[in-house]
Parts: sequence; structure tokens; C-alpha cells
Amino acid sequence: MADTATPNVIRRADYAPPAFLIDTVALEFDLVPERTVVRNTMRVRRNPDASRAANLELMGEQLEFVGAALDGAPFANAHAHEHGLTLDNVPDNFELTLTSLCNPAENTTLSGLYVSGGNFFTQCEAEGFRRITYFLDRPDVMATFTVTLRANKADYPVLLSNGNLLEEGDLPDGRHFARWEDPFRKPSYLFALVAGKLVALEERVKSGSGKEKLLQVWVEPHDLDKTRHAMDSLINSIRWDEARFGLELDLDRFMIVAVSDFNMGAMENKGLNIFNTKYVLANPETATDTDFANIEAVVGHEYFHNWTGNRVTCRDWFQLSLKEGLTVFRDQEFSADMAGGATDEAARATKRIEDVRVLRQMQFAEDAGPMAHPVRPESYVEINNFYTMTVYEKGSEVVRMYQTLFGRDGFRKGMDLYFKRHDGQAVTCDDFRHALADANGRDLAQFERWYSQAGTPRVSVRTRYDTAQQRYSMTLAQGYGEAAPAARETQKGPLLIPFAIGLIGKDGADLPLQLEGEAQAGKATTRVLEFTQTEQTFTFVNVAQEPLPSLLRNFSAPVIVEYDYSADQLAFLLAHDGDPFNRWEAGQRLATRELLTLAGRAATGVPLQLEDSVVAAFARVLTDESLSPSFRELALMLPSEAYLAEQMAESNPAAVHAARQFVRKRLANALRKDWLAVYEKHRTPGAYEATPEASGHRALKNLALSYLAELDDPAEAIRLASAQYDAANNMTDRSAALSALLNASAANGGSVQAQQALDDFYRRFEKEPLVIDKWFALQATQRGSAQRPVIEIVRKLMAHPAFNLKNPNRARSLIFSFCAANPSQFHAEDGSGYAFWADQVIALDAINPQVAARLARSLELWRRFTPTLRDGMRAALEKVASQVKSRDVREIVEKALA
Ligand code: TRP
Ligand code: ZN
Repeated sequence: MADTATPNVIRRADYAPPAFLIDTVALEFDLVPERTVVRNTMRVRRNPDASRAANLELMGEQLEFVGAALDGAPFANAHAHEHGLTLDNVPDNFELTLTSLCNPAENTTLSGLYVSGGNFFTQCEAEGFRRITYFLDRPDVMATFTVTLRANKADYPVLLSNGNLLEEGDLPDGRHFARWEDPFRKPSYLFALVAGKLVALEERVKSGSGKEKLLQVWVEPHDLDKTRHAMDSLINSIRWDEARFGLELDLDRFMIVAVSDFNMGAMENKGLNIFNTKYVLANPETATDTDFANIEAVVGHEYFHNWTGNRVTCRDWFQLSLKEGLTVFRDQEFSADMAGGATDEAARATKRIEDVRVLRQMQFAEDAGPMAHPVRPESYVEINNFYTMTVYEKGSEVVRMYQTLFGRDGFRKGMDLYFKRHDGQAVTCDDFRHALADANGRDLAQFERWYSQAGTPRVSVRTRYDTAQQRYSMTLAQGYGEAAPAARETQKGPLLIPFAIGLIGKDGADLPLQLEGEAQAGKATTRVLEFTQTEQTFTFVNVAQEPLPSLLRNFSAPVIVEYDYSADQLAFLLAHDGDPFNRWEAGQRLATRELLTLAGRAATGVPLQLEDSVVAAFARVLTDESLSPSFRELALMLPSEAYLAEQMAESNPAAVHAARQFVRKRLANALRKDWLAVYEKHRTPGAYEATPEASGHRALKNLALSYLAELDDPAEAIRLASAQYDAANNMTDRSAALSALLNASAANGGSVQAQQALDDFYRRFEKEPLVIDKWFALQATQRGSAQRPVIEIVRKLMAHPAFNLKNPNRARSLIFSFCAANPSQFHAEDGSGYAFWADQVIALDAINPQVAARLARSLELWRRFTPTLRDGMRAALEKVASQVKSRDVREIVEKALA
């Protein structure tokens, strides 16, 4: 009954096994852009483990039904409707052939079968397969697939699908065909086909057991010179999964295909991964160091899905984090191992810091708003809206906690048992947890709460040192603070939190750790406390001096730690903590505290000032040549405006911007000589190298340049940036120089040099869409001023001939960059940003609901903003709510307004 108000909510509790199973699928495609014919022959039988249904209900969307045959005879009792096809009174076991039509040329949703750049591509996760043919389009229905592709040979010389190529040949009328077979059972969301004018970089490698594998990276011909890094990343991924998890590539051939119209990063279709070009194409002239790192991570991620996702898949979409959280964890570990091996803790920490920054800035914000949900959600309206930071990034933290609790070896044992039990199955997050628990002889019932409770836990810490007894006690208390209503409903009790700590002595070295009841101190000076109660005290004995606690080392759990450090203590930790993550964290805490104080002052018009001691703490990091450049870059980068605004009682983007700019200017002016020295010292002359060391130097040097661009007199920065722009032999340096030029003179309405560089950049890279995306993004995220608000620049760029709303990368480069990555300009008091946002959400909704829904999320935290902005935000949300049609956007704006 309660369901009548919200008829379209899908609930985890309602899961029921499918009434029918499909064992084999033979698909035949006659590929024509406006009118593709799909013939689908399936072996269907009743599911012995489900309750009996007379009718077979297949899902289907945007299909034109042509006809059905059952066991070879025409079947009249098939009724097509808006959501699929109903077949009345079917037998227990039969062959079903369905014929239907679809229109890939007009498919702008980029879900199902679509045309991009004149070629055919598919995207089936989560529910796109039903836009290709009628099917039981749910992940617990697994079948083996044979696929025959037929198309005009001149237009579509390459025909690809999952698995192994069985045969290919010519047909009459200039057509040809290819037949593919995937030997592994798979759910429909892992189906893929590609057809068109593409070329491949090929490599043959031997896998661990000595079998030869063919690896291919397919791209448009002019992009072949940008495939080497993706191929190297693939080979490294294959080696890494063998070495770290004993997992081998199971197909003879593994293909990656790049497409420029794509809703997300990439897709793990069995043996035929389809990627956004952004995560494949790179050479030093077109891609930044960050792009190179992202490509390595995403190639790894999709490759690792072959075991965590494909061989063992999800029973239903509520279990999405089973594959995504686990696979993000695996790609994070892969990147850390590639950067620092298993033992270089400082290099590994760089990756950890970057990942935690993303988690805290994006996932914590999600958990504090109307879209808050547990890692395993309880309900959804549109599953595409639940490919979230929580499912991916918090899900990865949940997996990481098993490893923190059991060690690498214990985690590996759990993974081995998981595959032993579940290879070839569609399973749940509980199955994963049970495998980890059983392999390590542990009861992990309490740990389940990490999957079912939303919101970010807070751990507050009280410490007490007893000089006479030499005892040090640490009392931890956990709770959720003031959680958003969506999260509060899910919160039932305390979590098992692996809380890693160290105790630091007066000389900056770690003290030995001996918990009360232990015979002696252990060797390790970092200890993982298992914190399971609402409040719990851990007492250390034989503590010779009052220590300074280093809390939540390496960010051992996705929580907020509350502890009253003094500014001096934070400066001490920043200089000495033996845990590189916490060393960085101390600097962030120090900066965050100062910045929030300043933002509070800015909001009330009080003049700003910054203590010399804070400047001195940053100066020490800047000039400490014993620290790695990449660490220094991360430590000297201030917390983002979005993160800071989130920490305020009432988010005030203008005040945060003023405070952050004040601190940047203060650090720039006070440490001008040091920034200049660092800038000179960390240049990387000569040929471009993509190593972590070289990219660390570039990162620190370019951070120095960005600080120099804040100097009261920008002339010097403009001179340096212009020279760097002209001399650059790589995109990292060229785009950093352009960004510095744009920002150096923003307050004065821009500079000639900035305009010249912008024009040069466009001309130079006109034929490189991914670089033109950067050109749009740099302008959308640049600093603005009262005379020159960025919204005006963005509006002009919307009319630029190179702008195209239908291409998600381009839409993201301009619209999302402005709405989500330039907060002080987007949240202009006159509401111009919100009006722009509403127009774009509405326009995108008609083209591509998935992309529109992502953009719609940029106003979801509206209730947390300062009252002067709230009304404008609500009005914009209401306008969108009254005009959009898609389920995707409706779910977002209705939850935001509820
Ligand atoms: N499963 C993909 C990944 O994480 C992501 C994905 C889900 C996706 N749905 C999608 C990609 C839709 C593109 C379009 O690797
Ligand atoms: Zn994934």
C-alpha cells in the first residue's frame, strides 16, 4: 500500500530469483545506422528455484517488435509493450527466436547500441541490453553468447564482439560478416559489439601458465600514435593480477576499444572493454601526467573486473559495490605498487593521499546530503544514479579495511576462498564478507554494518597521560554526529573500525607500543586497534614520556577523527610523523582550521590575517629537500574550496574563496624567493619522461608557478608562465602554464599573454578533441572578477563551433567544470549560475538522461548553504523538477527537494 506514493522504487528486500533462466543466446545483427535488425535465439527454461509463472516477461525498451518463434514455429502470443515483451503460457523448456529493430543513429543516450563518429558501439551496464533485444536483463541470468555481425564492408571493415573470433567472410552486395563466441557464461550487461573503421596496436604476451594471448587497443586511425601507454598499462595489469592475486587472463584475446562519446570512464565487457577515449589516448604532447596516471588506473580497473565482476558477478544491482568497491581497491593497490612497489611507503602514500582527498571531498559530501546511501543501497529509482562515490570509493575503503585487519596474506586467503566458492556465480556482498571471515577464522557479523549504514562515522578521541604510572590511555567514541535524514534512518549501532595509531616522542620518533595485558612491546610502532564499541578505552603501559598521538594512520577507516590538537602539535606532526599519510594530514588539519577561521571572518567582513607560525610551517615543507617533490606538492596544496565550504556550518563559497585566496597570496608573497627557487630547481629539461619521479618534479614546479601567479605584482609569473608555455614539450607543463597565465591577471581583467596563449592552444590542438576539452575546462574553472565573471565566458563558449552538448566529454569540460569545479563563480549571488545550470540540465535531459542526472547533482547540497543562496538554488531545482522527463533526473531533484 505504501508503495502507491512512490510506485517506481526498486527495493533490495523485494529480490526474487527469476522465473526463467536463459542458457544460450545466439545474436545476429544486420548493422544499419537508422535501422538495425536484431535476431535473438535463446534456449529458455523454467528456474527450478523460483515460483512458477505462466508467462515469460522479457524486458525491452525503444525496440520495434517484428516477430517471435517458439521451437521453430511462429508464436502469436507475444505482446510488445512499453517495458518489454510478454509471452503467454510458454512451455518449461524451449527455444525462442525474437526479431526486432532499433535505431542506433538516433540513440543519443549512449546506452544500448549507438553510433559515434560513424562507428557502432554498445553500452549495456546496467540496463542497456534491453535496448538491443528483449531479454531477462538482470545480472543473475547468465548465458553463453554467440554473436554474428553483418555490415557493409567499406563502412565497417572491423567487426568485434566478446570472446573468440570463430569465422569471418564476405557476403553479397559489399557486405561481410564475423562470428564471435564467448565461452564463459555472462550476464547481459557484459555483452558488447563494435563495428567500424578502426585500427589496433597489437601485442602478443605469454600469461603465467605459458599461454599466448593477443592484446589489442582499437582506435580511429589518426589516434594510433596515442595507444602505447594504454597497452603498457594493460600488460602491467595482467602481470600484477598474476603476481598479487594469482589471477590469470582466461581468454586468448583481450581487446580495448576507444570511443569519444561515452557516459562514464570505461566498461569491462568480457574480453572487449570499451573505453572513453580520455582513458586510452595519450602521448606527451596531448596528455598530462594526471592523464597518464588515470589511464593506468582505469585500464587496470577494467582489466581487474575480469575476475572481480565478470567471473564472479553481482546477484542484483544492490550488490554493485561487490564488484566496484573491490575493483577500485584493486586498481588503487595496482597504482600504488606501480609507483612504489610493495615497500616504498612514501611513494605509496602519494597515491593514498590522492585517493583520500577524493573520498573526503566527494564521498563525504554525498553522505551528508539527500543522496546518502549505504555501500549496499536499500532502494533506488534509477540504478544509473547509484554508480556513486559511496558504492565505488567508500566501497573500496570497506574492502581495504579487511586487508588492514587481516594483513595482505590474510586478505589474499580470503580472495582465494571467494573465487573457490563463487567462480561462475552471481553473488552478494554477504558472500564476499563470509569468504573473508571464514578464510581468517573470524566472525565478521558486526562488520556488516559498513554495508548497511549510510553517513560518515565520527571518532572522537580523548587521551590521558599518567606520569607516575607511565600509562597512556586513549578513549575512542564513535557516532555519526548530525547525519542527513537519508543516512540517519540506516544507522543502527557501532561499527568495527580498524583504528591504526602510533605514539610519537619528543624527538619525533615513534615510541614502542605495549597495550595493558601484553608481556612486552611489539616491534611495530603502528598498531591497528579494533574499535568495536560506542566508547572504548585502550591503555598503553611503560610509556616513558607523554606522547603525541598519530591517529588513523594511513587513513585506516573512512571516518572523521576529532581530536584537539594545538597548532604547534600539528606543526610538529607535519615535521615528524613517521606515517607519511599522517604527516600530510597534519598539514591539512592545520590549513583547514586556519582557512575555516578566515572564511568565518570573511563572511562577516572582518579583516583577514594569518599567523607567521603557520606560514613558517609551510615554509619548512617547501624548503625541505629531503622530502619527495610529489609529497611536498600534496602537502602545499590547500584543501579545495568545495571541501572547505562543506566544513562550514553554512556553506559560503564566496567567503571560502576569499579566505583561500588570501592564504595563497600570503604564502606567495611571504615565500616568494622560495617558490622561485623551487620553480628553478625542479624543472625537468630534456626529453619528457613519464616516471613518477619526473612527474613529481613537474607537479611541484607547477604548484610553485601557480603560487607565483598569486603575487601582488603578476609580471614575473606572467613572464615565467609565457616562457614555459612556449618551451613546453609536454601537456603537463603547457596546460599548467596556460592556467597560470589565466589566473595571474584575472583580477585585472586578463592579460594579453593569456589571450595569446589561449588562441595558440586552440590552433595547435584543433584536431585533438581531448585537448580541446582541456581548453574549455581551463576557461570554465579560471578565476573570475567582478568586471569579468566566468559565467559570461562560459555562455560565449557555449556558442563556440567546437562546443557540442551531445558529446559528454565536451559537455563536462565546459558545463560541469563551471558548475562543479568553480564554486565561487557558480554560486554568484545574482543566481546567474543556477539559471544556467537549470537550462543545461533541462537541455541534457532530452539528449542523455544519465549525463543530465550527474549535472543535476551539483545542487543537491542546497540546504547546507548560506540563506542568501538557498532560495535561488531551490527555485532552480523546482524549475528543473517541473520540466524534466527522465526517471534519472527526477530521482535526483525530487530527493533534493524532499
Ligand atoms: N562498470 C563500469 C566500471 O566501473 C562503469 C559503468 C557503469 C559504466 N555503467 C556505465 C560505463 C555506463 C559507461 C556507461 O568500470
Ligand atoms: Zn568498475
